[in-house]
Amino acid sequence: MTHKFSPERMARLESPERHRNFPPEQLLRRFGVGLREGEVLLDVGCGPGFFALPAARLIGPSGRVIGIDTAPEMVEAANGRAREAGVANLEVLRSEENTFPVADSAVDLLWIAFLAHELLEPVAFFRECRRVLRPGGRLAVIDWRKDPEAAEMGPALDERVGEEDVAEALVSAGLALSERGRWNRFTFYITAVRPAPDPGEA
Ligand SMILES: C[S@@+](CC[C@H](N)C(=O)[O-])C[C@H]1O[C@@H](n2cnc3c(N)ncnc32)[C@H](O)[C@@H]1O
Repeated sequence: MTHKFSPERMARLESPERHRNFPPEQLLRRFGVGLREGEVLLDVGCGPGFFALPAARLIGPSGRVIGIDTAPEMVEAANGRAREAGVANLEVLRSEENTFPVADSAVDLLWIAFLAHELLEPVAFFRECRRVLRPGGRLAVIDWRKDPEAAEMGPALDERVGEEDVAEALVSAGLALSERGRWNRFTFYITAVRPAPDPGEA
């Protein structure tokens, strides 16, 4: 059962407990932000910017972070927080469920945190991710484990998505899996890349 996070609850996304369990800088560094100057990171389903703001700081002034979210309240909140914090290299835009306002092959790293369980059409969504990633570009998904031992934190188990289903949707969308694991007891991560085209492929 897919359940969208209500913008009315957005304060929960910045709780001290969340910062303790999912320190954003640590997660972002773990999956490669800041390794290359001038990178473009796209945070899909960025909410009020829990990852997008630290990502913009980590990526530095030569890099750029684009946040997108289907909820206009989240877009407004994230842009407001970026303005207040004086973060100039973050822009947050409204997107549609499976359509991003981003050019083909424009993104080096795609960040999908705590969104996979809300997707209505995972394969169509990940195809759109593939379109905006440059060949060789990377994608990281982190989400709640659908396992009774992980139930004590996060959404109800029947609102979560199985890790295997996410992996299958990524592969069906033409992405190549690279790494899988657990961030902590409650969450799994999967990283993938957009394969470089074969010679001669358009
Ligand atoms: C649980 S929140 C997580 C926010 C943020 N990634 C974080 O970890 O703090 C999920 C967010 O994804 C947004 N969302 C849901 N479906 C989406 C989609 N298909 N494309 C973009 N954003 C989406 C929701 O509006 C919400 O802001």
